Amino acid sequence: MIRVVASPNIAFIKYWGKELSSDPARVNWALNPSLSLTLSKAQTTTELEFLELGQDSMTLEGHSASEKDREKIRQHLGRICRAMELPVPVAIRYQSENNFPMAAGIASSASAFAALTWATLGCLLGQEEAEKWIALNKRRVSEFCRWGSGSACRSVDGPYMLWRDDAAELQNFPLKLRDTVLILSRAKKTVSSRDGHQAALSSPLLAKRLAGVESRLAQMTRALETHDLKVFGQLLETEALEMHEVARRGTPSVEYWTEDTRRVLSAIQEMTDRDFYFTLDAGPNVHIISERDVSGELRALLSKLGIVAELWEDKSGSSPQYL
Ligand code: PMV
Repeated sequence: MIRVVASPNIAFIKYWGKELSSDPARVNWALNPSLSLTLSKAQTTTELEFLELGQDSMTLEGHSASEKDREKIRQHLGRICRAMELPVPVAIRYQSENNFPMAAGIASSASAFAALTWATLGCLLGQEEAEKWIALNKRRVSEFCRWGSGSACRSVDGPYMLWRDDAAELQNFPLKLRDTVLILSRAKKTVSSRDGHQAALSSPLLAKRLAGVESRLAQMTRALETHDLKVFGQLLETEALEMHEVARRGTPSVEYWTEDTRRVLSAIQEMTDRDFYFTLDAGPNVHIISERDVSGELRALLSKLGIVAELWEDKSGSSPQYL
């Protein structure tokens, strides 16, 4: 039996829109490079066992997994076994839990598929061999994760990951950043990121975004290298607003924000001389990226606005670990 823990990540430059390709090697192939911060406190813990007979048993968050989730898990595991040229098990026992609210706007699919990839390799090779193999084949492992969910390819290491083409690689920046999530809504996303990626393709703003994203990435990389938090923050916010505008202008139009999202963002934008900056994933919750602990200020802001919200205070993290 293999036990592994993996963390999600928050994108600074977003993966929004993927190729329409029937080539299995190009599944979840992003239209643009993306840059992210791997978290540490938010974790998915997965247990996996290969069985020689019997039937699959799959539990997610303490409940028997849905047919759709079972299929995704089976498909991902099977693909890795075939890529490793090793036999697919007759049956499995899979159990996975998150220590963070699944609908908190923290991408649980990234940590779930990173954990499943590590667990599958652990069952196939044995934990010790898997650790060695992963260390020698980092890009390949990131590619395996990408097959499950695009953003999962960035959860293979950290704190900073750059995903370009098939896989993500570790970046070295001197800043130690943290992510404080304002959980404004725990409701399940109205539009899945899968449908969001699809709708983005019809957005009249996508072409312009794609033409400018490399230059924004280069500027952001420079800001992170030179410890220029202000420039980094401005680029971070422009990027998040752009992603959501691309989504909004697609067909169908995709709106992830709620009234509270709008109120919080305008209140933050009105604050002069900030040293914390916002970004958002495909959801209504606001991620605040900062160097120092800003939870006190954020709580004061929420109370001034009369908004009741929980804070998820996270720090930077790294690669999944066998337990
Ligand atoms: O990996 P997916 O298909 O869940 O897409 C993730 C999309 C965003 O979270 C909005 C952006 C990103 O780069 O993580």
